[in-house]
Amino acid sequence: MKITVNTLQTMAAEGRKISMLTCYDASFASLLDGAGVDILLIGDSLGMVMQGRDSTLPVTMEQMEYHTRCVAQGSKNAMVLGDMPFGSYQESPAQAFANAARLMQAGAHMVKIEGGAFMAETVRFLVQRGVPVCAHIGLTPQFVNTFGGYKVQGKSESDAERIMADARALADAGASMVLMECVPAVLAKKITEAISVPTIGIGAGLDVSGQVLVLYDVLGVYPGKKARFVKDFMAEAQSIQGAVSAYVAAVKAQTFPAPEHCF
Ligand code: KIV
Ligand code: NA
Repeated sequence: MKITVNTLQTMAAEGRKISMLTCYDASFASLLDGAGVDILLIGDSLGMVMQGRDSTLPVTMEQMEYHTRCVAQGSKNAMVLGDMPFGSYQESPAQAFANAARLMQAGAHMVKIEGGAFMAETVRFLVQRGVPVCAHIGLTPQFVNTFGGYKVQGKSESDAERIMADARALADAGASMVLMECVPAVLAKKITEAISVPTIGIGAGLDVSGQVLVLYDVLGVYPGKKARFVKDFMAEAQSIQGAVSAYVAAVKAQTFPAPEHCF
């Protein structure tokens, strides 16, 4: 059955965990969809894992459209979630809508944007015009140059309060999902309890509505530095299919992430 915003809301309400993986092409889309991955994220991480760049910032709208089209072709039931690349939505709600429409026309069912409460107006603008939004908070990789590196966010009390306020503002603005990257597990739990939309974690502990990882980390093929929250599921699998199925099963059974993957 096709995964819709309603499916995700129901899963979260019933405590059935949502599984998400990044995906950049049709063949993997078909494999992941068949293995029961609920959401395929065309992440702008493709700038790093496919293009070998050292951040996500160089990724363009044309590239996101191309990969979104590839993934949409290969998927059947999974929700297709497209990342809005750096510079494609920050300027104004109107700019965000024009570019979100391009991703939706390429086959996305929802778009993801990075940023806190200051993006709430943009979220509302998109949602009112037929574009469901996943809000990405905490460690937002497009801000690597303002953060001065990839660092856990929300460790101090004031930072944690700000991230909680971000989550509330974005959910109130109509975001369909809130994705939290590299935040303390206790904060992710509090946010998940505080807002009424599903939460997705990456380096955010177990007490969220679902998990996401970069596919190439799950398969152990990314040559870069391995983040704490990553698990190589290929290490104990006989096949790519087996590794992906093991990831889905571990998310559903809440055996991933383990304490060593959390902050
Ligand atoms: O681009 C990406 O892969 C992402 C996930 C890490 C959440 O945004
Ligand atoms: Na991304």
